Amino acid sequence: MNIPQVSLLSQKSHLLAEPALVFFAFADDKNVQKQLKEVLPREDVDRLTRLVEKIQYKAEMKSVTHLPIMDDTLVIVVGLGEEKKYTPEVLRRSANRAIEVMKQLNIHEGALVVPRSRVVHADEAVVAMSEGVVLGNYAFDRYRSKPEGESPYELHSVRIAVPSVTKSLETKLAETMLVAEGVLYARDLENENSDVMTPAAFEEEVRKAARQYKLKIKVFQEEELLENNMHLIHAVGRGADVPPRLILIEYRGRRDKKNDLALVGKGITFDSGGINLKPEGYLHQMHIDMAGAATVLSTIMAAARLKLKVNIIGAMALAENAVDGKSYKPGSVLKSHAGKSVEINNTDAEGRLVLGDALSYVATEYQPSYLVDVATLTGAVMVALGSEAAGLFTNSDKLRRELFAAANRTAERIWELPLYEEYEEEIKGTFGDLRNTGKSRGYAGSAAGAMFLQHFTHDIPWAHLDIAGTAILDRKRDYMPMNGTGYGVRLLVDFLRNHR
Ligand code: BES
Ligand code: ZN
Ligand code: ZN
Repeated sequence: MNIPQVSLLSQKSHLLAEPALVFFAFADDKNVQKQLKEVLPREDVDRLTRLVEKIQYKAEMKSVTHLPIMDDTLVIVVGLGEEKKYTPEVLRRSANRAIEVMKQLNIHEGALVVPRSRVVHADEAVVAMSEGVVLGNYAFDRYRSKPEGESPYELHSVRIAVPSVTKSLETKLAETMLVAEGVLYARDLENENSDVMTPAAFEEEVRKAARQYKLKIKVFQEEELLENNMHLIHAVGRGADVPPRLILIEYRGRRDKKNDLALVGKGITFDSGGINLKPEGYLHQMHIDMAGAATVLSTIMAAARLKLKVNIIGAMALAENAVDGKSYKPGSVLKSHAGKSVEINNTDAEGRLVLGDALSYVATEYQPSYLVDVATLTGAVMVALGSEAAGLFTNSDKLRRELFAAANRTAERIWELPLYEEYEEEIKGTFGDLRNTGKSRGYAGSAAGAMFLQHFTHDIPWAHLDIAGTAILDRKRDYMPMNGTGYGVRLLVDFLRNHR
């Protein structure tokens, strides 16, 4: 994967030395001229604006207009739509549009001019544009062969032209790039073949991170899971060739002993459904069912790189849900770490099982002030929200407030769904304490999953993010790629930065 260089450039410098120069304009009639006038020499603007006036141009959202080549520079205008609907997210998507055009035209470098606006300030704009560029440029291409002699297109460098380059803007850009690299890393983990990214290979990735960032690491292998009463994680993974494990890491940004937060991720390296084999549909994307664990790892790595002043426990429950003679089976009643027994009604509801044990373990062993779990837990959350937002379930006003604030800043959207007590009836067991699926089919499936998890939180304030719809896409959407999107890394890093 190639990551383009992104740097800052003053709008006062000679922009017509760039191979491509991209302006962003609002849909009102005079805006294009205004944007051009601000940065281009007088005589060039006159030539360009005469033409723009002639075509009566309106900069609809994501529209692309090519202006005549000036000197050796290709001038492109990308539309932002109406200014009253303008947000950093519009700019993120438009910056991605700009590099898509550069790719089509085989241009490897260029400058993007920050649009002047009272709504989005230059620093927010730099963050959004650099994210749009770096995230939009991603491709999972490690398995694509390179035809001899031909070199595939690569975007080399993008300069963001700002009114003035300051130290604080430079820092902001560097931090944005660091987090964006974290998103790309999570995407690579998610998209890798399930035969390669096994629970063992994931453990190696965590060990590498632990060495690099001096994080404490602890891994519970097969037998140790049983010795510590984590029968649920063990059961889910026992049919696979590569055994399951629970991986724990600690990042300590402060010296005191307090554990501020535990982040818990679902790490199913392939979800076949188990004996309740999945039908065709999402099977070919079920190697991405470890997206929660990838998000947790990548978020904690970013926290370490940013030296955030928080103490975080990361827990990643890794297992492959396989079909085999050794697989766990419907009808069994299993013991869990929390002491409650669980009836297996469906082996495809495996995420809540591995998370249940992981949540219970970190809750009791570390007593963090807050618990947050991230999981591609239910297909039902896609029925409710599509790919537009992750489902949030929480019993904490503070986590709700902080997560929504982070979602608004990053445009990694969340939407709250309820934890009504009435749903409890759905997951009451007959032979055991709990069932792993709701009694009624097609009835509040995401809530049933969340209610199940709540039983393992030992009354620690908790939030559950169901990312099944946002972490896995069936087509590219703006700067989000098809398959693993790395959703959640930007959201959680922003949340950690502002957590009090
Ligand atoms: N990993 C799936 C959820 C999923 C489905 C994620 C599609 C992304 C795309 C999860 O383990 C699962 O299979 N859930 C079941 C639960 C059901 C059996 C109660 C589901 O959603 O159908
Ligand atoms: Zn499943
Ligand atoms: Zn799953």
